[in-house]
Amino acid sequence: MASETEQHHAIDTMLLEERTYPPPPEFAKQANAQPDIYEQDFEAFWEREGRERLTWFEPFTKLYEWEPPFAKWYLGGKLNVSYNCLDRHVEQGRGDKVAYHWEGEPAGEQRAITYADLQREVATFANALKKLGVKKGTPVAIYMGMVPELPVAMLACTRIGAPHTVVFGGFSADSLSGRMNDMECEVLITQDEAWRRGTTVALKKTADEAMADAPGVRTCVVLRRTGNEVPMQEGRDVWWHDAIDGVGDDCPPEQMDSEDLLFLMYTSGTTAKPKGIIHTTAGYLCGVATTHHYIFDLKPETDVYWCAADIGWITGHSYIVYGPLCNGATSVMYEGTPDFPDKDRWWDIIERYGVTILYTAPTAIRSHMKWGPEYAQKHDLSSLRLLGSVGEPINPEAWIWYREHIGADSTPVVDTWWQTETGMIMITPLPGVTTLKPGSATKPFPGVDAGVFDEQGNEVGPGGGGYLVLKRPWPSMLRGIFKDPDRYKETYWSKYENVYFAGDGARIDRDADYWLLGRVDDVMNVAGHRISTIEVESALVDHQEVAEAAVCSRKDATTGEAIVAYVTLKGGKEGSVEKLAELRDHVAKKIGPIAKPANIVFTPELPKTRSGKIMRRLLRDVAENRPLGDTTTLADPTVVSEIQNRAQSEGTEES
Ligand code: PRX
Repeated sequence: MASETEQHHAIDTMLLEERTYPPPPEFAKQANAQPDIYEQDFEAFWEREGRERLTWFEPFTKLYEWEPPFAKWYLGGKLNVSYNCLDRHVEQGRGDKVAYHWEGEPAGEQRAITYADLQREVATFANALKKLGVKKGTPVAIYMGMVPELPVAMLACTRIGAPHTVVFGGFSADSLSGRMNDMECEVLITQDEAWRRGTTVALKKTADEAMADAPGVRTCVVLRRTGNEVPMQEGRDVWWHDAIDGVGDDCPPEQMDSEDLLFLMYTSGTTAKPKGIIHTTAGYLCGVATTHHYIFDLKPETDVYWCAADIGWITGHSYIVYGPLCNGATSVMYEGTPDFPDKDRWWDIIERYGVTILYTAPTAIRSHMKWGPEYAQKHDLSSLRLLGSVGEPINPEAWIWYREHIGADSTPVVDTWWQTETGMIMITPLPGVTTLKPGSATKPFPGVDAGVFDEQGNEVGPGGGGYLVLKRPWPSMLRGIFKDPDRYKETYWSKYENVYFAGDGARIDRDADYWLLGRVDDVMNVAGHRISTIEVESALVDHQEVAEAAVCSRKDATTGEAIVAYVTLKGGKEGSVEKLAELRDHVAKKIGPIAKPANIVFTPELPKTRSGKIMRRLLRDVAENRPLGDTTTLADPTVVSEIQNRAQSEGTEES
């Protein structure tokens, strides 16, 4: 939710940004993308990628169909995602190639999993799921940490045509049950506990609480990870190792239609209820594999690629699991946090596996900046040849630090803009082709038609600013919001006719490069996690002592944005340090620790317009100590000065 002042500041900064980085000639020579890639006709481009990048049981007969706002791609085709990600590589003699170098968080725990291993494990687990009654179309929820069995579970679902929803392991029982109920999941796959910074996260315990509110879940498969005792419910819960015991590894891949549901990924919007974003089979797979090939310049024979995201988010789905496996990449997959046992864990991993491509988020880069370059300097990072960034605007200082200290002041840095809804990267440099500018995501990917519109829907030219839009369908675009076509139309297609409204502010500079300015709606971006202000407000008012709450974000040097809550307690009660801690815990329990407010300001009243609307813009100004804008529409202007006084004296607690 970038305020106007903030956007102007960002624009001023970017206009001063004079540094440019043309592609190094040696990189350009060998790059997967060559300059003529932009000259191709959009239909010819996606037609060719669809035919060549995927293996079809039956080829598609029509590239796409567009009945705004509903798209279909690769119509008439039949294929299987797990076959494309695994079997075909094995059949082509690449079975011994490592798919994942998995690194556990506890020191010394490693597994090298080849494509042949993964194919066998997936087929076996798919057979186990079948034995448990999972069929084509049975919705399956997955709630796990970063263990190899997580991609195994996802791919096993795709093998038998069962759509999945992966719920990030940091989400609460309420968040998990809400998603499982919305998708009507019958099976949940989880693990006893996950490792995190040397301690354990009780996933099965949370899953039990969630299942108590999700009566449709009849079977729960539990992977043993930490080995600590967890309760198992007779008749419902089954251990993963028991489920696969004596099960064969011959499981013919189900022939799926191009437009069959592949997965739902829930994400925050501008209301309290997360939306189930629909992704289907062929278009999604083609979109993520194509972008992965060109943007990360992947050479499957020689590269060691590492996307340091969590598979529980769209970044992990597209660029740890489906894109890289479809392309036959060798990836690193890491279970834990970057600072365990010490702050050089990432650099140690890069050195040991010889990682050549690293993809992470600005918030992580800023944490490493804060810790200092000495941790990276302890390691040989010379294998790196390409760096990527995703999830939030990257400030030029972080971009430069990343290139200088991690990329030996020579690797290209690709800042990639996209969303859960787009499925694949949409605005990005192509390494070897694009001249880079720190802080700019540069150009729409080939075959993507983006633009920046003003309020009235006029396209703004170079030097202009406005709202980022996408003007034509793309293969991996969301097909809708699960069970809610009206919300789909209203959210993305109502601002402009037949044009996708992304919810981000953007500016185009004189070279036609894009600069992303952050959200223009009530969605916050905290450490790259997407959280809605209204979701946090609902969690707060769910507490029995809270009368009203208003939530906004303020700038934060590390996490990009931090959550600030203004809370009015029932009966005119005053807040306290204890109440503050209690409310933060309450939000963590309702949504997950990522949604905990960094600050809570207790106030007898919230600033409202005469029609009763909370003025979040003013609250944001207060949170950032800015002079207040226009307050004349307020019902009671004195409320704001009272809040300002309190904001300055209230305690802050870091999350
Ligand atoms: O505001 C944009 C920001 O993240 C939002 C999408 O969040 P989510 O669906 O969780 O997906 C995150 C990972 C793809 C966008 O609306 N965003 C993402 N990448 C960038 C970005 N903002 C600026 N620059 C980026 N590179």
